[in-house]
Amino acid sequence: MSENILVAIAWPYASAKIHTGNVTGSHLPGDIFARYHRLAGDRVLMVSGSDSHGTPVTVVAEREGKSPKETFEHYHRGFLDLFQRLGISYDLFTHTDTENHHQVAQDFFTALLSKKYLYREVQEQMYAEKQGRFLPDRYVEGTCPNCAYEAARGDQCDHCNQLLDPQDLINPRSKLDGSTPVLRKTEHFFLDLPKLAEAGLTDWLNEGKDHWRPNVINFARKYVGEGLQGRPITRDLSWGIRVPVPGWEDKCLYVWFEAVIGYFSASVEWAHNQWAHNQGEPEAWKDWWYQPEAKTLYFIGKDNIPFHAVIWPAELMGVERLYEEDETKKLNLPYDVPANEFMNLEARKISGSRNWAVWMDEALDRYDPDALRYYLTVAMPESRDTDWLWGDFVRRNNDELVATWGNLVNRAMTFAYKRFDGQVPTPGSFEAVDTRLLEKVETGFEEVGQLIAGCKFRAALSEVMALAREANRYLEEKGPWFQIKENREAAATTIYVALRVIDSLKILFAPFLPFTSERLHHYLGYEGQLFGQSCIETFEEAKGRIHEALCYDASRATGTWKASELQPGQALQSPKPLFEKLDESVVEEELNRLRG
Ligand code: MF3
Ligand code: ZN
Repeated sequence: MSENILVAIAWPYASAKIHTGNVTGSHLPGDIFARYHRLAGDRVLMVSGSDSHGTPVTVVAEREGKSPKETFEHYHRGFLDLFQRLGISYDLFTHTDTENHHQVAQDFFTALLSKKYLYREVQEQMYAEKQGRFLPDRYVEGTCPNCAYEAARGDQCDHCNQLLDPQDLINPRSKLDGSTPVLRKTEHFFLDLPKLAEAGLTDWLNEGKDHWRPNVINFARKYVGEGLQGRPITRDLSWGIRVPVPGWEDKCLYVWFEAVIGYFSASVEWAHNQWAHNQGEPEAWKDWWYQPEAKTLYFIGKDNIPFHAVIWPAELMGVERLYEEDETKKLNLPYDVPANEFMNLEARKISGSRNWAVWMDEALDRYDPDALRYYLTVAMPESRDTDWLWGDFVRRNNDELVATWGNLVNRAMTFAYKRFDGQVPTPGSFEAVDTRLLEKVETGFEEVGQLIAGCKFRAALSEVMALAREANRYLEEKGPWFQIKENREAAATTIYVALRVIDSLKILFAPFLPFTSERLHHYLGYEGQLFGQSCIETFEEAKGRIHEALCYDASRATGTWKASELQPGQALQSPKPLFEKLDESVVEEELNRLRG
């Protein structure tokens, strides 16, 4: 049965380039999951966008001598290109500075306020006397009260992931000039988390979470179990979304409060855009947000767990419903939050500021997207921190993509193309080995599908590669290049079986390696494409604001996740190698580049 599945991916701050760690942490697993479900015939909506507000953006803008808008637009544009090149198939990748998002975020705020889940409180906040301004979040650094890490930021400790307020830091210093901030009174709105915990959040976390990754659910339960406190959701900043309350014009909504609302606002925007293109209803987004059977999954890195497993569900629960008259309906809470751990680089933590990172746009200048996607999947930090190791990247590319999968395709396709007049040959009768291999691959669809649906991407990919290995052994044993000298029909059977297996493996590999699967689809003589196409579009909103977004041409539920039915006689296209062997010297080159 076809399901509605929302693939929600963490919104990257538009203030730094994207590196391998970001991709393997959230964008790539979300993409594999979405592509699989589309092939399996499910209705997928995959959304995200640039997180364009908050101190992560203003701090960088100040450093670069630009306005926050210039900074975020610059990085946003880079993200659009990058995801298109890497094949991250967003139905919509927008940003949080659209009119639509401002409106939706304010409506969330107003709904929570009217339901009495927000309260006002005067608190003391860090203030820089010299500059005459408050210093929220990332404007302050200091020592973490939880783990004693000395460079903790005012919003979160990078070392232990604890959420912080600037006042929590030991030895706080201003990012503006290193001075020690003073405390000054200011009034803010707070999200009443204790009340929301009572109202159902705690119960929800304690029920039906067996399919959640243990680290995620344990973290969330511990966070709530230690006793929640109200959290301020407004800031003394001018860059951001206005607080929709008279007299609050010089404050804005806290970036985390509104960024998570992006999942919802982007769904609304997507439906509106589709409708404007004469495709579907403007309220189509409700299929994912109000149908109780719909599944919403959030692909994020572990530092985002508190916001997605606690704060965002709390907001959804508190709002209950928005843009929906029917009082029996409630906004869907997360079905799963498959957070990943971190990917380090050559045994050291990735650090953008120290340039210890593999920048994804640069990697794409030098390597094929599927080669990168392959390695980022086999080394994905699903259950523990992992490493990007250049030596490992080269080895796995050469031994697995080139020597196993690529070689299988190359041998069978070239042989068929040259010796059987560029057509899929007509087989003779099957022997047990032939049927066994075909059946094994057929069962693969069920097994690999289950693994992907359960967010076990590494295991899924290794199962597909094992099938490719098995197919190579089959070809080896059968030796069609000898068979053809004595018995053309026997060779035809072998090549027919091999092509059918390759045709199936093309689908099994497709969520992971969409570019090469698409090419192979063409070499095998099919018309049309396995997937849709991404494009960067420009939108003009009601009040005239213009923004660029990445769109996917159709949320196709193709239902093609099934074993090949390749027909004898199908005309093949002249095949070219799918993958490129990398020279060992690449490792030294890349390590030198890193050491700068
Ligand atoms: N911008 C945040 C980060 O990079 C993630 C935001 S996810 C969202 O850590 F859901 F809040 F948008
Ligand atoms: Zn810490």
